[in-house]
Amino acid sequence: MRKNLTLGLFGFGCVGQGLYHVLNETHGIKATIKKICIKNPEKSRLLPQEYFTLAKEDILNDPEIDVVVELIDDANAAYQIVRQALQNGKHVVTANKKMLAENLEEIFQLQQQFDRSVLYEGAVCGSIPILRNLEEYYDNDLISGIEGIFNGSTNYILTKVFEERKNYTDALRQAQELGFAESDPSLDVKGFDPKFKLAIAITHAFGVFVKPENILNIGINTISDLDLKFAREKGYGIKLIARAVKTDNQVFGLVAPQFIDAHHPLASVRNEFNAVTVQGAFSEKQLFIGKGAGSYPTGSAVLSDISALTYDYRYEYKKLHQAEDIQYSTRASIESFVRFPHGTKISIQDFEEFQSGYAANGQHYMLGRVSLEKLAEWSRWENVGIILSPEALFVNKPVKSEMLEYTAA
Ligand code: HSE
Repeated sequence: MRKNLTLGLFGFGCVGQGLYHVLNETHGIKATIKKICIKNPEKSRLLPQEYFTLAKEDILNDPEIDVVVELIDDANAAYQIVRQALQNGKHVVTANKKMLAENLEEIFQLQQQFDRSVLYEGAVCGSIPILRNLEEYYDNDLISGIEGIFNGSTNYILTKVFEERKNYTDALRQAQELGFAESDPSLDVKGFDPKFKLAIAITHAFGVFVKPENILNIGINTISDLDLKFAREKGYGIKLIARAVKTDNQVFGLVAPQFIDAHHPLASVRNEFNAVTVQGAFSEKQLFIGKGAGSYPTGSAVLSDISALTYDYRYEYKKLHQAEDIQYSTRASIESFVRFPHGTKISIQDFEEFQSGYAANGQHYMLGRVSLEKLAEWSRWENVGIILSPEALFVNKPVKSEMLEYTAA
């Protein structure tokens, strides 16, 4: 039997208001918002004043509230709220990917300790139901990889830049105005946001916990006009791809821009849409596409979690129990185009396997397989652009190949 739930919300921004709207429109769900904790009492609100409070205890200590819905920006404050809510016997629904990625193992343990559920479908790829599918549908299939577009803002920007030839700053501003971007948009454009989502997805796909600092993220902020010109000449698009692959009990993860052939299934995923490809041993490749950002799409994922709580759903973290000796590793290499100005200390000896290179107008371009360690180092250098090649695959045992001659023109 479905339960009636009383909700306490933290935050009433883009997603909170989206949730309010979709909850009002969905008559089948027995859930009512009792209180909303906000930070700024000056903002004008959609709802009467009595809904709002500035004191978190009004929600956390209210015995009538069964579910805390955490939708605030600040990851540290969010973690404190989630801990306290679980300690006080409440279930939690959250869409805070940074907070989850940074504390997932602790949150897993708190759920066992306090016998309560934390659901977070809205944290990973907005409206795409990927976590529950990884948990339930792919329960028995051996997943060897997940990859896709895990950030709506950067996909929106890249679409506008490629298709409408908008400049980057205008496209970013539009993504902000539409409510897709984080309040600190560098989390989007530098690839942190998709990395948080990937870290969460890795746990549900492969049964390992990985701290976000162990996943390399390269953003779209270093893509230059020359890269765009190169892509257009070759008939490629550029997408920011999050990927995790399992080979021989090791899981590798990476977020980086990639040249994408026009026929690639992800090439047609435009604007704020996200996409996730799941590669299973028996199901083979399956592609999920849906809106990855925005008030209603994310609000609908949060609503789906609230609905799941009405019949006591919990993530069982099934892969954690199935995983034998699976470890997250950063010892891999991947084929990349590297662009850097003359005078930068990058040479063919830095590549695991060098393919080709040329230089023009003071810029050098090299293509080859590079270790994640080197990519991490170069991604911190100014003026170095890194874009994965269209067919880039992880190679998990970097072996230095024979060096080829590279002559700057
Ligand atoms: N800033 C995020 C994005 C919001 O653009 O995908 C949804 O998580």
